[in-house]
Amino acid sequence: MKIAIGSDHGGFRLKGEVIEHLKLKGIEVKDFGTLTESSCDYADYAIQVAEAVVTKQFDFGILICGTGIGISIAANKVPGIRAAVCADTFSAHATRQHNDANILAMGERVVGTGLALDIVDTFLSAEFEGGRHTTRIDKIADIEKKYNR
Ligand code: RB5
Repeated sequence: MKIAIGSDHGGFRLKGEVIEHLKLKGIEVKDFGTLTESSCDYADYAIQVAEAVVTKQFDFGILICGTGIGISIAANKVPGIRAAVCADTFSAHATRQHNDANILAMGERVVGTGLALDIVDTFLSAEFEGGRHTTRIDKIADIEKKYNR
């Protein structure tokens, strides 16, 4: 499994913890930045990770900012990206099962490291259920097409 990860300054510290965690588990991870704690713009990292995932160079993406919200909104502008902000393991599991989410977003100012790592493990181990959920995801793609994104 290959993971693309990125953050702004608000998610920089947690990004480092997640990278360390994934490496210890033997999971390949590429850090798309930011590489310092200096203030920066989350969209610059969201697009890099989103494009890496949507082009299938990576299996999943992980994006972290202060809340997880701005960086997920930006990633979701890339057609084919389904980025889900999660602050609990139930949602992390459900968004893989039901939404086939391909990017996990989290907020460093929202979740502690222990919970964040559990969320990561849950997200990466859950599987899309298909069936009726495929119909629903297809309708999301139809919305993208309607607005020519
Ligand atoms: C940065 O201060 C903060 O606005 C950003 O990390 C994020 O929380 C935005 O949604």
